[in-house]
Amino acid sequence: MNSTDNSPELSGIGELPAGRPPQTDFTDGLDYPRLGSVTFRRGTLTDNQEATFAEHWPRLGKVLDDELIDVDSWFGRSGHPTILEIGSGTGTSTAAMAPVEADTNVIAVELYKPGLAKLLGAVVRGNIDNVRMVRGDGIEVLARMIPEKSLDGVRIFFPDPWPKARHHKRRIIQSGPLRLIATRLKPGGVLHVATDHADYAEWIDELVQVEDLLEFRGWPWEDAPLLTDRQVITKFEGKGLDKDHTINEYLWQRTDAPNP
Ligand SMILES: C[S@@+](CC[C@H](N)C(=O)[O-])C[C@H]1O[C@@H](n2cnc3c(N)ncnc32)[C@H](O)[C@@H]1O
Repeated sequence: MNSTDNSPELSGIGELPAGRPPQTDFTDGLDYPRLGSVTFRRGTLTDNQEATFAEHWPRLGKVLDDELIDVDSWFGRSGHPTILEIGSGTGTSTAAMAPVEADTNVIAVELYKPGLAKLLGAVVRGNIDNVRMVRGDGIEVLARMIPEKSLDGVRIFFPDPWPKARHHKRRIIQSGPLRLIATRLKPGGVLHVATDHADYAEWIDELVQVEDLLEFRGWPWEDAPLLTDRQVITKFEGKGLDKDHTINEYLWQRTDAPNP
């Protein structure tokens, strides 16, 4: 990637470079769905959000690139556990959980800029010190920006259910991403997934044992070594509950076996 393509002058702060983003080639025969370049309707920010973005994104945000994240220098402290959340949406649960786990570094990954802008606003207004954001596809961020065995947790709350059978291959919970997540977790690190979608829950039920590096811990897990209480009912969860859906949550723990 030409680094100048990424410069704020050319593409705007927090903008992804134009064109189809480069995608990591995985050679293990598993599928790794990527959202790629997604255009969202309602993609614009309010003037206030633009101003907040311009002022705070350079310190608190990054756009997907090929540089491993130096967590200690980005958060300005060392020795703290780090959790990556994929698909933080508008960041409702991210912003609610972060103050309860102030000791933990939280990296929220999302493609949807207005969602990131909302979280950024909440972080700035709430003086929340322990949240940083990456704009990009979660699979690419894990593969290109996160060192192996470096994360204490990965969260995926209410991932897009892709309900049509022909779109199931786009679901983020499948063997490829589970393998990738496992390699980025430290031994003992935890993957936490929540869904309100019954069919997606059945799909995940089939996959709970698929990755050898992840030991399924079920739900609830009283002794989980990280915060598992999501604190709030998010927009998507609220919609699910309105329709009388059940929330299914899943916890796995990285084994201490070597990376494959
Ligand atoms: C149904 S929403 C849930 C948002 C939030 N977790 C919540 O509970 O309100 C799913 C979000 O995941 C994001 N997303 C989906 N696939 C992604 C990926 N591969 N990388 C980053 N974000 C992704 C979408 O843009 C969307 O905002």
